[in-house]
Amino acid sequence: MHPEQAEPARIVVLISGSGSNFQAIAEACKSKEIDGEIIGVISNRPGVMGLDRAKQLDIPCSVVDHTEYSSREEFDGKLIHEIEQYGPDLVVLAGFMRILTPDFVRRFKGRLLNIHPSLLPKYKGLHTHKRAMEAGDKEHGVTVHFVSEDLDGGPNIIQAVVPILDDDSEASLKTRVQQQEHVIYPIAVKWFVEGRITMIKGDAYFDSEALPETGLQLNVN
Ligand code: GRF
Repeated sequence: MHPEQAEPARIVVLISGSGSNFQAIAEACKSKEIDGEIIGVISNRPGVMGLDRAKQLDIPCSVVDHTEYSSREEFDGKLIHEIEQYGPDLVVLAGFMRILTPDFVRRFKGRLLNIHPSLLPKYKGLHTHKRAMEAGDKEHGVTVHFVSEDLDGGPNIIQAVVPILDDDSEASLKTRVQQQEHVIYPIAVKWFVEGRITMIKGDAYFDSEALPETGLQLNVN
């Protein structure tokens, strides 16, 4: 909780698909591990599993279908409008597969988090597990970062480093990385709502100390 706030932090989550990260954060809120409440879930795709999860958890959800808008600006404008209705302290991108306009990013600057399945700045973009394996990397992982106007480029908050095993397939690696997503995203959200992590002039700070480029690192064996 922010020190001046009496109420749990208000969190809006944006999804495009399965919503497993959303659920991990929702459970951490429910168990009071995170002093926050997910007050709304917005999906850019209708009919996805994440919306079913929201309904089961009794969390208000809606769809802003990007295919119904003629430009990115128009879609993002509607999205901003929907999000602002909730008056959130924090906006969490959890498997939200749309590139956001600079206007959107500026609107929620410093209170907009994303999760990306790689050890950023390595492997921005898609197919990260495959690319890490093809490059012969020994380690892969996942990063939670503040969102800046550069795609997958904002300052890192926390990473989980996952070894790539000799007998890994893309699917097995992805599964192990996802298990860590569900660990580190709730941690990052907890820190945010406690006011421990902040973004100042494009850099991330933890308890007022500048974080290294990697963010804080969790090593998984
Ligand atoms: C995650 O692997 C995340 O890293 C990526 O999209 C996936 C979303 O999964 N950006 P879920 O919708 O949270 O289950």
